[in-house]
Amino acid sequence: MSVSIKSPRQIENMREAGRLLAIVHKELHKALKPGMSTWDIDRLGETIIRDFGCIPNFKNYNGYPASICVSVNDEVVHGIPSKEHIIQEGDIVSLDGGLIYNGMHSDAARTWGVGEVSLEAARLMEVTRQSFFEGIKLAKEGNHLFEISAAIQDYVESFGYSVVRDLVGHGIGTHLHEDPQIPNFRQKGRGLKLQAGMTLAVEPMVNAGSYDVEWLDDDWTVVTEDGSLSAHYENTILITKDGCEILTLLPEEQKTGVSDAEK
Ligand code: MF3
Ligand code: CO
Repeated sequence: MSVSIKSPRQIENMREAGRLLAIVHKELHKALKPGMSTWDIDRLGETIIRDFGCIPNFKNYNGYPASICVSVNDEVVHGIPSKEHIIQEGDIVSLDGGLIYNGMHSDAARTWGVGEVSLEAARLMEVTRQSFFEGIKLAKEGNHLFEISAAIQDYVESFGYSVVRDLVGHGIGTHLHEDPQIPNFRQKGRGLKLQAGMTLAVEPMVNAGSYDVEWLDDDWTVVTEDGSLSAHYENTILITKDGCEILTLLPEEQKTGVSDAEK
């Protein structure tokens, strides 16, 4: 599969897919409280997506059983929502969701602290979020894909954290996962030359300890091998002539990734 350039009409639909997904995340953040189950979060997320008239693109993707991946503490990504998994004060909770609007996909993840979290957890979440912004400073027509990868890795490792190797970001558009793969770590060579109209999901996954991960017996949930905390932050972006547009953040979130009201 080659890397597609989206038409102006497709880009308009992706902007709306992104905006609606940003609202889903905002609502999920507001709702996230100790005592609720990870299943409750998925139910709420899917309800909001369907109320928008959109389709949750994760549901049944390769057999994934939910609309929102909920990954708590040492869970890296792809946690399966469960009525038995109750969120506790002090947890860090990664929420990854996506939707389809008029045939175009969006995909975004946030990691939130529940109530008071440790300083270490807060720092990990902040470094993960900022690593995305460090990476996309290089996201611009004419630059090369792996410049983004290297910038994310350098930033993360300067804090003593590590970037997960076994999972990567991806192109996105008429499908959830399109070419190219987007590693969050250095590669040989420069990679693909970026062109205006490419749409990418950039998604650093950062572990407080080693980068090694393993899969649980449910065949989905990815956890850190050493039990250390992990955070995930992702947005769908559009490459433009002079930079990029972050499609899955609301206007007031563009600089920091968090709306002022929620800080
Ligand atoms: N953002 C995740 C990814 O790109 C979405 C996983 S979709 C799932 O891998 F449905 F497979 F969980
Ligand atoms: Co993704």
